[in-house]
Amino acid sequence: MQDILRQLQEKRDEAAIGGGQRRIDSQHAKGKLTARERLQVLLDEGSFEEWDMFVEHRSSDFGMQDQKVAGDGVVTGHGTINGRLVFVFCQDFTVFGGSLSEAHAEKICKIMDMALQVGAPVIGLNDSGGARIQEGVASLAGYAEVFQRNVLASGVVPQISMIMGPCAGGAVYSPAMTDFIFMVKDSSYMFVTGPDVVKTVTHEEVSAEALGGATTHTTKSGVADLAFENDIEALLELRRFFDFLPASNREAAPWRPTDDPADREEPSLDSLVPADPTKPYNMKELIEKVVDESEFFELQPNYAGNIITGFGRLEGQTVGFVANQPMVLAGCLDIASAIKAARFVRFCDCFNIPIVTFVDVPGFLPGTSQEFGGIIKHGAKLLFAYAEATVPKVTVITRKSYGGAYVVMASKHLRGDVNFAWPTAEIAVMGPKGAVEIIFRGDIGDDDKIAARTEEYRTKFANPFVAASRGFIDDVIMPHGTRRRLCRALAMLRDKQLENPWKKHDNLPL
Ligand code: HXC
Repeated sequence: MQDILRQLQEKRDEAAIGGGQRRIDSQHAKGKLTARERLQVLLDEGSFEEWDMFVEHRSSDFGMQDQKVAGDGVVTGHGTINGRLVFVFCQDFTVFGGSLSEAHAEKICKIMDMALQVGAPVIGLNDSGGARIQEGVASLAGYAEVFQRNVLASGVVPQISMIMGPCAGGAVYSPAMTDFIFMVKDSSYMFVTGPDVVKTVTHEEVSAEALGGATTHTTKSGVADLAFENDIEALLELRRFFDFLPASNREAAPWRPTDDPADREEPSLDSLVPADPTKPYNMKELIEKVVDESEFFELQPNYAGNIITGFGRLEGQTVGFVANQPMVLAGCLDIASAIKAARFVRFCDCFNIPIVTFVDVPGFLPGTSQEFGGIIKHGAKLLFAYAEATVPKVTVITRKSYGGAYVVMASKHLRGDVNFAWPTAEIAVMGPKGAVEIIFRGDIGDDDKIAARTEEYRTKFANPFVAASRGFIDDVIMPHGTRRRLCRALAMLRDKQLENPWKKHDNLPL
């Protein structure tokens, strides 16, 4: 008996060192942790239950029959993060460069299938040279099996990808279909075709980092949500992020007790909006001042900065925040910001997370690049996302809310449940100057007349009371009491029930 136990332990020890000490050292030399070290940081201590540690590939071409490593380049199983169940797969670059074989894919599929059945999120830590070249089409089929599961799991359990090494070619499409992509700076990259192919086809010279590194994808392409400095920071922040998410679409948003009083007042908010309507202010300050303990987890902070998206909590409950940012492009909606916010709103709606929207939007960004780029279709995504969302939706208009953008930003007309305005709100078809130049075109040139007309328009429409008199605004509130009013609105909406008509799925303008 002792012998058998010893043999098992030896097999486990052998599997645990993956591709061997030389390759582990090389991984460390690149500033990267190994797969098992990463899981130690990500999961609660001692919580990891590993599956399929003894799985091996079945390939015999190119001498592969003599190169078998237990686990086959991916560590899979389940564990907990702050006590909550999560399924994980973590590619092991020390084994065939983390490349995906048929058996490797089967391991990933196994935990995804179980995650769906029990209703728990899936986190993938990606570090892979792509399809296992020695296996050919069997490996491609493996990718397809994973892709199919990504799609079936979408909207059922949260899926998060952390890119911690190479992720190239068609392999990028698994993370691309997950809900969030995080990356590590200087050691991860994602691209469909690498620098060599790019050079051959387009004659552009570009490094892997510039083409698909963490900075590129969090500032230029918007493919990734956040970039972290190193493996440790990435994994610790992932733990913090995980705490905001429900386990599945069958669960309510998680709740975390807080000492922050729901009726806490913030007098400084009374002077947040400058007297001059053309002056910007930082909308992030408002979010940070109303959420529990000022903890706001922002997503895509360096991409489409004219809209802010992220999670915070109110009275302990996770809330998704969407807010126009007057400091970037005056808070206009454009293609990038509409897509960014639409995807976020849809995530919240999938997973029962209430949405709070702060509005200060002068309209859609004008210009040929926007029109040629399809702002009509892309702007419609955000409109569509808000209109179809059935989760509690609470909106606060702090200043401008003009035209189509007024309607889009979680207005009452799109089933906004509770819509507040600050006394500084201006809810109208357009700003006073533009309006006067159209309806009093004949007066252009007569500065006094135009100034008088503008003032008249401002007094009449640049306020929240016209909308409030129609019931489009439920109340005009004191800025300092915003947190209290939001908490009460969300408490009232806790058991909201609203269903859209049955359909196979909608036809979101893509
Ligand atoms: C098998 C692979 C591999 C792969 C790397 N290795 N990629 N083995 N299949 N795809 C092995 C190497 O042979 C090496 O083995 C070890 O992993 C580490 O690789 P190195 O090249 O030494 O590491 P590094 O210099 O860091 O370079 C990493 C790399 C490079 C940039 C990822 O290995 C590389 O370019 N690999 C090939 C990438 C590729 O073309 N993949 C197919 C893409 S197409 P030893 O024994 O020396 O440690 C694809 C299609 C998916 O993925 C389609 C889905 C639909």
